[in-house]
Amino acid sequence: MKKIACIVGTRPEAIKMAPVIHELRRDPEFLVTVLATGQHTDMLMQALGDFGLEPDANLNIMRDKQSLDHITASVLQGVGGFLDAEPQDMLLVHGDTSTTFAACLAGFYRKIPAGHVEAGLRSHDLSLPFPEEANRVLTDRLAELFFAPTQGDADNLLREGINPERIHITGNTVIDALYWILGRDKHTKFELPEGRPVILMTAHRRESWGQPLVEICSAVGDVIRERPDVMFLIPLHKNPTVRNVIRECLKDFPDNVIFTEPLGYSEFVHAMSRSEFILSDSGGVQEEASGIDKPVLIMRTVSERPEAIVHGTCVLVGTGRAKIREEALGLLNEPERRRELLAKNTKPFGNGEASKKIHEAVRRYFARQ
Ligand code: UD1
Ligand code: UDP
Repeated sequence: MKKIACIVGTRPEAIKMAPVIHELRRDPEFLVTVLATGQHTDMLMQALGDFGLEPDANLNIMRDKQSLDHITASVLQGVGGFLDAEPQDMLLVHGDTSTTFAACLAGFYRKIPAGHVEAGLRSHDLSLPFPEEANRVLTDRLAELFFAPTQGDADNLLREGINPERIHITGNTVIDALYWILGRDKHTKFELPEGRPVILMTAHRRESWGQPLVEICSAVGDVIRERPDVMFLIPLHKNPTVRNVIRECLKDFPDNVIFTEPLGYSEFVHAMSRSEFILSDSGGVQEEASGIDKPVLIMRTVSERPEAIVHGTCVLVGTGRAKIREEALGLLNEPERRRELLAKNTKPFGNGEASKKIHEAVRRYFARQ
């Protein structure tokens, strides 16, 4: 029996790893441990819980307003200590957080092969998104197996000299998660006022802290002034640096803005479906929205998910007030614009079979050893 540790630290890692964990656990050849770094506390546990999971071990590293140094150093030491106590045959890490990179490094120092789920995404600008682009590049220097969601991601890895035999194109596991939630009998809905158009908004990126976040909120205010019938649903990220600014900037619009705590995954998926379109800087939301045919205005200057823009439902609008306002009002007032956006959607992130493909690739990897 092979021992595999799946390492998760933040909400998106939990959501996107959950289908992989369930898939691997169905295989009696594998003993799967879920190691939480606890980079996020509440948001990680909430997301794992949505998939009926809980950590087998939790390093609980989170501090209020933590620094990148703190996360990286404590994950490296914590995961290292765990691996010394419980040696593993493989690590699976996901995506681009500081947990991802530091956990992969801890494995590398112990010569434990790592599989990188969601490998190969690149904005080709190390400073954007920050620090995620660097985390991805560094993780892909250290990993042994690469699970690339798309052909474009695999091409990025090939250009960096990765052996093609180690790359598997799988689709994105977030689509597995999305379809799993949509396929359940029981749905938790967030009740929204009937008869009013709803726009879902999320924002949290580090590079948007400060002025860009103020611009984003100002654009939301502009849209409300033009279209007072519109409701914004804003589930606030737990990060105080983000939530306090958004709350303060939009405090004058109590009739048009609903603030909530982070929504459970089922509630969030329902809110996405119910909204006219989504304003977001989130990575996962760009992929999910293409999966459920919902337009997204991406409030970033670059995306490492070009497929979401070329073959999905997304438009890159930056973080400037005027452009966000203009694009949002365009989508609200001209249904034709929405239709055009949806017409190019080929659902580029797969059909919900990514975790099966990852399981297969892991099996074949061990069979060859
Ligand atoms: C982190 C990831 C980012 C990912 C995002 C997903 C890094 C450097 N950043 O950003 O890549 O897109 O998660 O949401 O890896 N907090 C809580 N409770 C929680 C979670 C966060 O109180 O459940 C607060 C804490 O004060 C914490 C702060 O938020 O210090 C920031 O958390 P951190 O993980 O450093 O950054 P995120 O912006 O969440
Ligand atoms: N999400 C959620 N509840 C919320 C907001 C987001 O479940 O209130 C989900 C969303 O569907 C997506 C993931 O969290 O799967 C995105 O997380 P986040 O935006 O924190 O990180 P990113 O994707 O930008 O790394």
